[in-house]
Amino acid sequence: MQLTQSVLFAVCLAGFTGASKRCRAISAASVYQANAETSLDKLMTWYREDTGMWDTYGFARWWQSANILTTLIDMAQYGSPKAQEVADDVIPHTFAVAGSWNLENRGKREPEEAFVNEYYDDEAWWAIAWIKAFDATDNATYLRAAEDIFADLARGWGTNCSTGGEWWDKPHTQLNTISNTLFIEVGARLANRVQDRKVYYTDWAVRAWDWFREESGMYLPDQHLAAGGIDLQSCRPHEDPHSNTYSNGALIAGLVALSVATGQTEYLDEAHRVAGAVTTTMVKDGVLQEPHIIQSHPGESAPQFKGVFMRALTDLQVHSPRQEYKAFAQKTADSIWMNDRKDGALGPDYNGPFYEPPNASPHSSAMDAIVAAWRASQ
Ligand SMILES: *[C@@H]1O[C@H](CO)[C@@H](O)[C@H](O)[C@H]1NC(C)=O
Ligand SMILES: *[C@@H]1O[C@H](CO)[C@@H](O)[C@H](O)[C@H]1NC(C)=O
Repeated sequence: MQLTQSVLFAVCLAGFTGASKRCRAISAASVYQANAETSLDKLMTWYREDTGMWDTYGFARWWQSANILTTLIDMAQYGSPKAQEVADDVIPHTFAVAGSWNLENRGKREPEEAFVNEYYDDEAWWAIAWIKAFDATDNATYLRAAEDIFADLARGWGTNCSTGGEWWDKPHTQLNTISNTLFIEVGARLANRVQDRKVYYTDWAVRAWDWFREESGMYLPDQHLAAGGIDLQSCRPHEDPHSNTYSNGALIAGLVALSVATGQTEYLDEAHRVAGAVTTTMVKDGVLQEPHIIQSHPGESAPQFKGVFMRALTDLQVHSPRQEYKAFAQKTADSIWMNDRKDGALGPDYNGPFYEPPNASPHSSAMDAIVAAWRASQ
């Protein structure tokens, strides 16, 4: 039934005139939901009970699993009964088992360190997952876990090159975009949930965004893109700064949350400008594509990036819908389904072809695009 619908939908998309009547009878939303749910079955084949994480490229991956959990929770929150059922089991299991795994494997002792490691961006991905778990369950344990993580992130603020800034790692080897845009996002999301510390978290998020925009050297104001990093010897931005989809995704999600926290629309306006920049420059044939990588050899991190952007675009779409985002999400999701799929696995290049090996990281990231198309079509 699901397969028949999606085949028919593909026929409809290809524009065969004779199919138009039946096409109208098919709701786009129900097809995207079915495709997302089929893909969720595949995703769970990579979930490991003993680590509470998803295997990607052969073993349990820490920050990728935080993102995959976020994909699952979003899907449940947007109304998938199947995702809800899976999330009900996975949220507490991953919280307990992945947290213990981290404490054991990284020599941590305190329970507040269950999702703390040497990389501030890794920590922030888990903070976002636990904030969303709190939204989905109303269980304050998860919100507390996110606050514990933020307390550690706040200790990573302030570098020797500037008046502010969030380090990428604890040994202070890099100062780059992702840890900074994530810091804004986590702070702003907490501001909207922790009533008695709203001012504290809002202040952090505003301070981090003001610094990022005006002083960091990692925001291109004319292009409205987060880009590059800082050379720690010269304290100047790297030449020819590269931009990517996930740093800008985290920035958009942060700006949306900041507009909610402050009631000021300027943050939403800027989020739209960033979204406009990504959806027009990081594309191929109108479909989202990660820049600055070889598509057939994307490495082990980049395949996770694009889904982060698609989730943020959905955040923006929920708060301030635009027809062009819906069209963009649908076009990207349709291309994934038609050109970038093999034996149920979704790959890293949304224009296709499918690149081996099938695994949870690119698969979950592509699911974010399908979930985005589903949510926008509802
Ligand atoms: C809240 O979540 C924690 C962590 O998963 C769990 O131990 C606890 O039982 C949950 N509380 C309720 C009321 O479900
Ligand atoms: C800043 O700190 C980093 C890491 O500790 C160090 O490598 C770098 O040389 C310092 N830069 C300056 C300009 O002091």
